[in-house]
Amino acid sequence: MRFLVLSDLHSNLEALQAVLAAARPLGFERVLVLGDVVGYGADPNDVIEILRNLPGVLAIRGNHDRVAASFSDAEGFNEAARLAALWTRRTLAPASVEFLAALPKGPVEFASGKFLCHGTPLDEDRYLLEEGEARRCFDGMPFDLCFFGHTHFPGAFILEGDRISRRPALGDELVIECQRGRRYLINPGSVGQPRDRNPRCGFALFDDASDVVSIHRVPYPAAEAREKILRAGLPRWLGDRLILGV
Ligand SMILES: [Fe+2]
Repeated sequence: MRFLVLSDLHSNLEALQAVLAAARPLGFERVLVLGDVVGYGADPNDVIEILRNLPGVLAIRGNHDRVAASFSDAEGFNEAARLAALWTRRTLAPASVEFLAALPKGPVEFASGKFLCHGTPLDEDRYLLEEGEARRCFDGMPFDLCFFGHTHFPGAFILEGDRISRRPALGDELVIECQRGRRYLINPGSVGQPRDRNPRCGFALFDDASDVVSIHRVPYPAAEAREKILRAGLPRWLGDRLILGV
């Protein structure tokens, strides 16, 4: 089975369309979504509509989805994120609210020993950026592979014996051949708001027959997404950062 792995879409329609156009020829049967479907961008309803119609979607919530669906306030959000969350709440169609409200909290097991989470497998709101946090995750939960998002930085933490190594995705592709006896935390990068100074949108494909994960980056019309953000009256920075990839 081949899985398309998406995270941090952030209401960016142009980015999602580009990802799907790039992923379809590569082939996938199911779609895994690691949360933050909405927030920041100008097209929350269209992004949700596309997700709802993709084959075999398994999605969990992110912190922005939780706030947009009104389960929690925007505590801990910076000003631009808070304004965008409030705008998103006002803009969501009833069917979109229903979709977001039904998203489960991670971690969720999608295959034996294989999980999805938003922040970390232990806490949906924590950022997994360094080896110490990765070790807490490996120690705290017995997974073989866990996909995570939230940081918007594509790459992997790999546990082999007692040693954790880090594999950031530096170019436009990173291939990880998972091996028995090793354990993996893998971030596919962000579809809708890349932050590693590469403005191309990110996604991953996972083939559970060969146990290979490939992370990809593809260009998309970021200027169009930015223009829509400005027209919607959202903070200008949320548009500008798409061009910069930060
Ligand atoms: Fe996010």
